[in-house]
Amino acid sequence: MSEHLIWMDLDTGVDDTAALCCAASLENRGLITIAGASAVCGNTTREHAFANTRNVLGMLGKEHIPVYPGAEKPLLAELHTAAHVHGENGLGNVVLPESPAPAESIMAWDALYRCAVEAEGRLELILTGPHTNAAIAFKKYPDLKKYLKRILIMGGAEVGGNITPAAEFNIYADPEAAEVVFKSGVHVVMCGLDVTEKGILYPEEIREIEQGETVGCRLFRDTTQHCRAWYKSMGIGGLHIHDVNPVLYTVYPELYTAEEAGVFVETRGYITRGKTVSDRDTDVKFGVKNATVVLDVDRVRFKDLFIELLQETIK
Ligand code: BDR
Ligand code: CA
Repeated sequence: MSEHLIWMDLDTGVDDTAALCCAASLENRGLITIAGASAVCGNTTREHAFANTRNVLGMLGKEHIPVYPGAEKPLLAELHTAAHVHGENGLGNVVLPESPAPAESIMAWDALYRCAVEAEGRLELILTGPHTNAAIAFKKYPDLKKYLKRILIMGGAEVGGNITPAAEFNIYADPEAAEVVFKSGVHVVMCGLDVTEKGILYPEEIREIEQGETVGCRLFRDTTQHCRAWYKSMGIGGLHIHDVNPVLYTVYPELYTAEEAGVFVETRGYITRGKTVSDRDTDVKFGVKNATVVLDVDRVRFKDLFIELLQETIK
């Protein structure tokens, strides 16, 4: 059995797709086992996220991994997708072949809880979308915290934001859910914008990936076209692959620089709603270090590993 047993909860999404490709290759390397996946609304609707997750895993030869449907809307907030970045269907409007696997109908939170109990504390939960599914699981099953080893997220930021000046998209999309996760009692590894924007891919690196003939390279080439045009229009000279970070951190933490801190979520502020407030730099601490705040990455090793993993997916 591999050292890491993971569950991926995603709003699949272009960079969520890249994260799934990396996870598939890491599983093929024998370094992780993907116990299950679940879909949440965020970048796109739950319906698209569910289909995209199933279809991407199917293309990667991983159709045996069960994918469960999750929340169709945030706990309290209204649903605002990110079609301007990820396209209407979440994958830059690229239509993928349908997964041959029968669709699961058990809800994400029930399946996650069952898996965590069976894994007896070994399960690592990776969240690359809003935290709605995880929050529902914690509310419905108060003892879930006993069964999760840790939670790794792409979300938040120590400094700044991307959807507002103060907030990152995944947290802003459902701040009440993120609050439940950070208060859950399970340690959170936060790969926020501080680090995910440093792991940028430059045009020559993107071209190198595009030359690959594997499923991962082809998926990357096709699904990123739409968001690459958006990045360009924003004056960003490359591509952020945010969601890849918690997956790579799980196995290769030595690529990253991180610090322990207390982190909680602003759910009320009228210009700071969805901000992850970390006590790293203040005199008055929260009194608990519930998170590892990931702050920096060795960009060259990160992009080399990312390219390798895409090139290692099946043909
Ligand atoms: C996050 O929001 C989504 O657009 C991406 O998939 C990533 O999870 C970045 O803020
Ligand atoms: Ca995502």
